Amino acid sequence: MSHAEGVNVQRRRVLIASTAVIGAAGVAAVATPFVRSWTPSAKAEAAGAAVMQDIGSIEAGQMIVVKYRGKPIYVVKRTEDMLDKLEDVKPLLVDPDSSESVQPEYCANPTRSLEPSVLVVEGVCTHLGCAPNYRPDVGAADLGGNDWYGGFFCPCHGSKYDLAGRVYSGVPAPLNLPIPEYSMDGTILTIGEA
Ligand code: FES
Repeated sequence: MSHAEGVNVQRRRVLIASTAVIGAAGVAAVATPFVRSWTPSAKAEAAGAAVMQDIGSIEAGQMIVVKYRGKPIYVVKRTEDMLDKLEDVKPLLVDPDSSESVQPEYCANPTRSLEPSVLVVEGVCTHLGCAPNYRPDVGAADLGGNDWYGGFFCPCHGSKYDLAGRVYSGVPAPLNLPIPEYSMDGTILTIGEA
């Protein structure tokens, strides 16, 4: 191989390697908008203290994860369209009125929340405790097509929940996702105290 050919082969390898890196970074950038997470101070978590989180920067339709007492708490900014679908999905649910589920009294309402646009729910599947994935993509073919109104899907054994954490019929999970105690003051969410 001539010196010039050797240099060209070398250049090609470098170009292929850098394209692969850009490709991987692109996938990461696409995957992250749905889920971001913040972690409270280790001291607050150890004490089981209430955790405060400014949720002003969550975009409509986006979810963040806040850790509270070792559990992931999912916080979703629901859009008007998402709220409308809470009614449409009811015939597919085990307990659409959440009469058997765990939630504070102030969340015993059709949206299971203090403010309809903000869902605060434990991200712990009521079957065997896996963390469900956020799947807001209405009509997703792998989740039932027209019967999928957006919500959470547990990858462990296939349980499905709607965007109020209410469990679908015909899946292993028996109950709706619990709602923790929380309060809202403007954009400040406090989890762990009413
Ligand atoms: S732990 Fe979620 S379906 Fe089994």
